[in-house]
Amino acid sequence: MFIWKKIRPFFRSFYRLLNAFNGFFYDFKRFFYYSGWKENLKDNQVRNYNSAMVYHGLEKSLSYKKRNPNSGWSNAEKILHRLSVANEKGELGYHDKAAKDVLFQFLNLPENKSLDKSKQMLSELDKMDFQSNDLHGALQYSINNYKKGILETPEDFFLSRYSLREFSKEVVPNNTIERAVQLAMKTPSVCNRQAWHVFHSSEQEVIQKALSYQSGNRPFGKEVKNLMIITTDLKAFFAGSEHYQHWIDGGMMSMSIIYALHSLGVASCPLNWSQTPKADKALREALKIENNQTVIMMIAVGYPEKANIVCRSSRRPFHEVFSKLELR
Ligand SMILES: Cc1cc2nc3c(=O)[nH]c(=O)nc-3n(C[C@H](O)[C@H](O)[C@H](O)COP(=O)(O)O)c2cc1C
Repeated sequence: MFIWKKIRPFFRSFYRLLNAFNGFFYDFKRFFYYSGWKENLKDNQVRNYNSAMVYHGLEKSLSYKKRNPNSGWSNAEKILHRLSVANEKGELGYHDKAAKDVLFQFLNLPENKSLDKSKQMLSELDKMDFQSNDLHGALQYSINNYKKGILETPEDFFLSRYSLREFSKEVVPNNTIERAVQLAMKTPSVCNRQAWHVFHSSEQEVIQKALSYQSGNRPFGKEVKNLMIITTDLKAFFAGSEHYQHWIDGGMMSMSIIYALHSLGVASCPLNWSQTPKADKALREALKIENNQTVIMMIAVGYPEKANIVCRSSRRPFHEVFSKLELR
């Protein structure tokens, strides 16, 4: 008995390592099967994300005050290739259309317009009968526009958000949920790929099924009236070094949603999805979430009551999390 007490912590730690390995292997398998590493441009979603990555390079080039007049051609050629695949397939996504617009602007730059290669590429674009309904490329953006973001007392906004676990009985209407997600869609993402997806339900049967796989919602989960599941599409990630990017982009989107809800007077509680492969698979069997979507977290959403009790969740001393960046 005494020996067991001594060696138990070792077994517990080793079990954690094994679990982590299981998780890494599961994530690797998911990256292998569902990410865009093969760069199959015939897959509509893969091509769209990939086009975003490429045309965003051109957008950046268009936005520099002193741009190098010779830059951008390799991206321009890549865009044209992706556009011809899209055009041939006849399946056009948002980023395909945006890519055409950005390439058109690039080819019409004063330094490019009269070049033979521009004329040739423009005539190729001319044969493609589609266009974007949105604006792309670069934008003049004054300091006054930036100043619109200044809050008189930012502390009021940031420090008044608390995770709430017991909400009022009122269901948050769809238009409020949608407005919050639309606000949150301004979240930055790698190359503006915007690989997130937000699943929402206010149906008790769906909510309770989803929450039954998540352990952190006990005991308040049974009263949750609105639930979101935030996912990121693995198809948007190509390079091996991007194997964690979906967690980052999805995490940022999740935070924006929480702040957007807060700005609309709606409270929330993030619910972790640091789960075992078994739980992740079980959730996918129960809910319509495509395999290429990585579940980032769930968010319980609802209105606060007049009087609430929340965890203080006090923050660590500032100096523990902030220091000067220095050279070694
Ligand atoms: C990714 C993530 C997962 C979380 N998961 C849970 C959870 O499963 N259950 C829960 O009650 N709270 C959960 N929380 C809420 C945290 O406990 C809470 O954010 C933290 O204590 C800070 O408190 P505050 O949000 O009120 O500032 C989670 C938070 C994050 C960011």
